[in-house]
Amino acid sequence: MNAIRTGHVAGTTGLCEDDPGLLEIRRRLSVRGDSERASRPFDVAQVRKDFPILQQQIHGRPLVWLDNAATTQKPRSVISALSRFYEHDNSNIHRGAHTLAARATDAYEGARKKVQEFVGASSPDEIIFVRGTTEAINLVAHSFGRKFLQHGDEIILSVLEHHANIVPWQMIAQESGAVIRVIPVNDDGEILLGEYQRLLGPRTRVVALTQASNSLGTILPVGEMTQMARRFGARVLIDGAQSIAHIPVNVQQLDCDFFVFSGHKIFGPTGIGAVFGKKEVLESMPPWQGGGNMIRDVTFEETTYHGPPARFEAGTPNVADAVGLGVALDYVSRLGLPQIAKYEHELLHYATEQLSRIEGLRLVGTAKEKVGVLSFVLDGHSTEDVGRRLDREGIAVRTGHHCAQPSLRRFGLESTVRPSLSLYNTREEIDRLTEAIRRIRRR
Ligand code: ALA
Repeated sequence: MNAIRTGHVAGTTGLCEDDPGLLEIRRRLSVRGDSERASRPFDVAQVRKDFPILQQQIHGRPLVWLDNAATTQKPRSVISALSRFYEHDNSNIHRGAHTLAARATDAYEGARKKVQEFVGASSPDEIIFVRGTTEAINLVAHSFGRKFLQHGDEIILSVLEHHANIVPWQMIAQESGAVIRVIPVNDDGEILLGEYQRLLGPRTRVVALTQASNSLGTILPVGEMTQMARRFGARVLIDGAQSIAHIPVNVQQLDCDFFVFSGHKIFGPTGIGAVFGKKEVLESMPPWQGGGNMIRDVTFEETTYHGPPARFEAGTPNVADAVGLGVALDYVSRLGLPQIAKYEHELLHYATEQLSRIEGLRLVGTAKEKVGVLSFVLDGHSTEDVGRRLDREGIAVRTGHHCAQPSLRRFGLESTVRPSLSLYNTREEIDRLTEAIRRIRRR
């Protein structure tokens, strides 16, 4: 097992203490008057009080929520924002000339601005609201891919991708005759950069990479990989589903063309997510769905479209959940993502040490740079059995292939048990997990 380097979380985007990316995050926090809270030590006991769902018992034991890579729990501020929106401001947006329409429109566009600031985009027009990461990647693959990919063009993915960053590209490759190339990993689950370099070439049109693997936790050096792709003029999409709640991101620093994520992975509601797209790239792309909101003018002979982001938001959007996402991002900014990252890193280090000591437990995914995902298999027990027994002790983990079958097959596996950490988890919860696994081993 590799030692996990202290400070690796900040280093994951190539960001270190005096990096312009972190300085920009601090500047944004200070602009919003949150710098004082963000600089306080991280107080997990206080944080846990913000999450009502964590206060319950499951099978007579306090709930231990270790399924954060699947979805995160919601702080009271997000839950209240949703009911406040429906109690006071609910309306369709952009069309009605009345007070509630104006309030709902302001709230929705305000949320877009919060996403813009959170990811460091240069304009709110670079942010498109979607249902989540899956819809985000489908949007890019179907709009950008259909227009720009041709027979023999190459799309580079890593073996660590979630199915949502494989299947949409396969669909477009089948339609266009483009070819998919796959970057392999070493036995720790780290990207082989030399192999990636060899795959890049004049036919590379798209490189689509997860920033953090949902099955192994590996953090990819996406900044460096984007620069490498740039030398060949390829467009780069970064899947931030598993990084958004754990790693400070600045899309201008990364210089990616697209960055996508889901709201529910960062304490926001399900059914809302976002695409960041560089302005000039979005402007070159056709709509992928037709309907209301995205048109300038419609006749039966011809329709003209709005510019981005409206061009990509056909139909009534998910207004309330966008507002909820904005409040979730406020919550994270108040705590301070660098502080969260430091806390989670220490917890990951502790959990890795504890699990490594259990005889017969094999950790899968031992990269030096990781988010808090601890996939494992246990000798003599199926992953489903381990998951069921942990649930009986009030501990929620995911088992299975985690919608990333190629990544597990690289390690000769079809399934793992996957505890995954977030800002409200504690060392005591890790102790409960390890004790429960030891009991399973003994039976
Ligand atoms: N993509 C989510 C996960 O990894 C559902 O669990």
